[in-house]
Amino acid sequence: MTPPADVGRRQLVLRFLSSIGRPDEAERYLALFRAERPESFAILHVSDALVRAAEDALLVDLRMLAEVGLRPVITMGAARTRAAAAWAARLRDALAPVVPCAVVGPDDVAATVRDGRLALCPLLEPAGDDRGNVDARFDALAALAAALDARKLVFLGRRSGLQPRDGRVASIIDLTTEQAAYLGPDGLTGQQALLLRQIARILDRVSHRLTVSVTSPFDLLRELFTVKGAGTLVRRGSTVARFDGGAGVDAARLGALIEAAFGRPLVDDFTARPARAIYVADDYRGAAVITDAPLAPYLSKFAVTLEARGDGVGRDLWRAMAADLPRLFWRSRAANPITAWYRDQCDGLQRLRIGDAEWVVMWRGLAPAEVPDAIAWCAAAPADFR
Ligand SMILES: CC(C)(COP(=O)(O)OP(=O)(O)OC[C@H]1O[C@@H](n2cnc3c(N)ncnc32)[C@H](O)[C@@H]1OP(=O)(O)O)[C@@H](O)C(=O)NCCC(=O)NCCS
Repeated sequence: MTPPADVGRRQLVLRFLSSIGRPDEAERYLALFRAERPESFAILHVSDALVRAAEDALLVDLRMLAEVGLRPVITMGAARTRAAAAWAARLRDALAPVVPCAVVGPDDVAATVRDGRLALCPLLEPAGDDRGNVDARFDALAALAAALDARKLVFLGRRSGLQPRDGRVASIIDLTTEQAAYLGPDGLTGQQALLLRQIARILDRVSHRLTVSVTSPFDLLRELFTVKGAGTLVRRGSTVARFDGGAGVDAARLGALIEAAFGRPLVDDFTARPARAIYVADDYRGAAVITDAPLAPYLSKFAVTLEARGDGVGRDLWRAMAADLPRLFWRSRAANPITAWYRDQCDGLQRLRIGDAEWVVMWRGLAPAEVPDAIAWCAAAPADFR
């Protein structure tokens, strides 16, 4: 028996989403997004250059998302409001034959989405002054994000992220430590600098946890459905607390975090083992456990919750740890996707087989003569998981 056409299409979209990252990631994100209230999933702000130049790509994204039951709220006009109402009407006309949708004001967005329709919400200037008050329009966007309890705000433009002069697209910008550099002479230019300033305003105004990113419609699905993302994530760094000797750490929450992150149960005495220091990010969204080895501090565990993964929490933990510990070594399974990133953080590495798996031993700050001891120590380190 052939399945009904809509089931076939949904399967096709699911398969496509699985193919853009690691197969289990798309499913995990889909489950997370579906667990939200429908109007909280995401707000997509569409630049007018994009509606002019890449409307088709945006329409494909919106159709695919609708196919798996996700209806982002579409806004436009924050940077330039002149044509916002016209663009909204144009998108509605293009979408209407395939996805039920309506052009609505901010107050009607939630009801429209709950009703199963896609909401297109132009950010209009009440006084009709269209160059007028950029701050006020971005503030209206922040107010919409707060009212919907939106989890994500994505700025869609022609470029796949914020790209400094002569640099590559930044994958994460931490406003706390990097805003000044990105707004400086070698930083972002024109509209992108304006956007970064406004994103900082938005994050100041929204009190719930909101992820803000900048990407293009060509990379939107990768940004939404993979841990690595595709585009620039803009955030305020997490707060990292250091617990010397592990004293004061909530052992049960730490254990639960590590088990959930690795998907395996820890050996019974793991949290009772002596630690040199434990770094905890943002209320146990992530943690790093450092133990004392004869040679140097050893990074025994590095973990971030599934929900927070890819949001830069790992980077924050790493920065805090690296500032304290010039000498450090650790090991990671060769197949672990984070091993590629570790490679940029280490001074050197050695691939080796431990038991029946391929591992990579890495170090920072060790003298060449110390490396064999680090490798031998990692090869003999006891298993932490059952
Ligand atoms: C490893 C782990 C702690 C990273 O935490 P995270 O908060 O997701 O990491 P961040 O978002 O801060 O990303 C840090 C960097 O890693 C990259 N990265 C993160 N996840 C990635 C993935 N799945 N594939 C490729 N790169 C990835 C990011 O792009 C970023 O690089 P950049 O700074 O060059 O852009 C987390 O994925 C985790 O808990 N994994 C399971 C447990 C584990 O494997 N721990 C390490 C064992 S040694």
